[in-house]
Amino acid sequence: MKMIIKGGTIVDGTDREAKPADLLIEDGRIVASALVIEEEADAVVDATGCYVMPGFIDLHVHLRDPGQTHKEDLLTGAKAAARGGVTTICAMPNTNPAVDTVEVLQDIYQRAEQAPVHVLQVSAITKGQGGQELVDMAAMKEGGAVAFSEDGKSVMDVTLYEEAMRQAAQLNVPVFAHCEDKALVGKGVLNEGVASERFGVPGISNAVEDIITARDIFLARESGARLHLCHCSTEASVWLVKMAKSMGIPVTAEVCPHHFILTDEDITEENANYKMNPPLRTKRDVKTLIEGLRNGTMDCISTDHAPHHAEEKAGGFEKAPFGIVGLETSASLTYTALVDTGVLSIQQMVQKMSTNPAKVLGVDDCKGYVQIGKDADLVIFDPNVEYVVDVEEFASKGKNTPFAGRKVKGRVRATIVDGRLVYEDTARTVKPQPEEENLFS
Ligand code: DOR
Ligand code: ZN
Ligand code: ZN
Repeated sequence: MKMIIKGGTIVDGTDREAKPADLLIEDGRIVASALVIEEEADAVVDATGCYVMPGFIDLHVHLRDPGQTHKEDLLTGAKAAARGGVTTICAMPNTNPAVDTVEVLQDIYQRAEQAPVHVLQVSAITKGQGGQELVDMAAMKEGGAVAFSEDGKSVMDVTLYEEAMRQAAQLNVPVFAHCEDKALVGKGVLNEGVASERFGVPGISNAVEDIITARDIFLARESGARLHLCHCSTEASVWLVKMAKSMGIPVTAEVCPHHFILTDEDITEENANYKMNPPLRTKRDVKTLIEGLRNGTMDCISTDHAPHHAEEKAGGFEKAPFGIVGLETSASLTYTALVDTGVLSIQQMVQKMSTNPAKVLGVDDCKGYVQIGKDADLVIFDPNVEYVVDVEEFASKGKNTPFAGRKVKGRVRATIVDGRLVYEDTARTVKPQPEEENLFS
């Protein structure tokens, strides 16, 4: 199977300038790159006016499979990824049952063979995510787990967590940390301050996150584990990552689009699509997160794609579950908020969404770059199309996003996985409504 991608501008995952080139793909790999490639091929994909970039790698996705497939399942989640230009997803283990045995892991991998994108599974750290007893970490690695995480919560028993980190270090598998002090968060719902006061609900302070972030960084230093900090939302988390890196501690960090775009002041009505964990923070936090992304302190942009059913989300701020979907909006939101505004270069966007996640997973020998010999996992992205986020277009079962109805710029035109076209945009001529406010104006 031969494919040619014609007329695009390549952003290759390095700092090199974006350059026009055609790509030749054969048997799932990039085999040639030249200004013009004229050759017989089984398929020709038109990338005129578009960036051709390494497919995005989302380190933080909830597929709800097994156990909560009314919210999402493996295939709908993978289709949502393809729509978002995401060619590899890491699925978090807080399913039902939790991904804590090789049997659950293998069932997922078996079914993932049908998925249009690569699905990598993260193992729980403790059995049933109960915080009491470690999973068989060596067996989970053997079974194909790419990381260990208790996402949804933190392992609060510090000695147990230190032991988990030691084992993870020995196995050379990263730990993905959700940082939240269980006692301190209490029944917190929204950021402590403007939002919690406006709606009269218990607040979540920055300290809830910062204390565990600091703890985990020092555990990483003791154990030698590679620590990846999930969904950093606070100013201090950026400073802590900067400190850790300057001390040579093996830490990486991700930020989600909602945390670098929205603040607690944007919550003006009781709409639980603004409820996620960690919560939307203050302008000051957002400013520091963006600066951290810009200066390289913060490595990755991931989504924490957390689909929930509309009825569950209708339960009001206190009852509704935490979380929002993100797979189908993250590229457009990142482009609109950070690249179109000149904060990040297009090269940096690609590094945060593909190259650096590939490095976190240790798969940068074959993914995260558009280069000869690398896997043909690619996204073709049109930076000039403006459109309004329409949740009815989503492949995800989850429609829970605060960005519904917002105008954005930049849209995925096509997604290629292992040299196969897995998604092509059919609605790319959608015109924005003139009266719609630009998201960032
Ligand atoms: O908002 C969130 N949703 N944060 C989490 O940590 C868990 C996630 C979920 O599973 O819904
Ligand atoms: Zn989490
Ligand atoms: Zn999560």
